[in-house]
Amino acid sequence: MTIQVHDKRFVPYITEAKLQQRIKELAQQISHDLEGTRPLFIAILNGSFMFAADIFKHLSIEAEISFIKLASYKGTKSTGNVITAIGLEEDLYGRTVVILEDIVDTGKTLHQFLPQLRHQQPQRLLVTALLHKPDATTHPIEIDYLGFSVPNKFLLGYGLDYDGLGRNLPEIYQLEE
Ligand code: IMP
Ligand code: MG
Repeated sequence: MTIQVHDKRFVPYITEAKLQQRIKELAQQISHDLEGTRPLFIAILNGSFMFAADIFKHLSIEAEISFIKLASYKGTKSTGNVITAIGLEEDLYGRTVVILEDIVDTGKTLHQFLPQLRHQQPQRLLVTALLHKPDATTHPIEIDYLGFSVPNKFLLGYGLDYDGLGRNLPEIYQLEE
């Protein structure tokens, strides 16, 4: 069934069942790999709120979670746009940190943000992304745990929005051709 959001039409792409199954697998893998490290998960809002909640409830190990927003502002000529984290209060020093991101598209956001976190000297810094568009990548990011590799088309639902709408959809839709 196609749906309309603002001026565009979207077609179903990843079902709720497939999403949930894959997220459960990721949570099991992470639980296995990070057992005993009491990791700190950092979910990047707004897009990752649903993914973060679903993955976190399937973890079987002790873990903490924190939510941040990234704000982009104009830096100097040489620095271009600068990204800062709003709401990160935890000290990352010596910790196992796992970023939760909805989608890595160009990779620009994490490419800028990860070094800022590394600056705090976490013991490990891992990236979990539900979706990745390899064909859109301009700034390669190492993704440690990936849900789905997807083509370079605009996606909607399960936290992802088109101009503010569509985040509530429990499955993922793709822009109709
Ligand atoms: P990047 O910096 O290009 O990797 O972009 C990352 C952010 O852009 C993601 O966290 C999303 O919020 C947004 N984004 C990228 N692709 C899509 C999409 O297909 N649908 C909705 N939001 C997207
Ligand atoms: Mg995002």
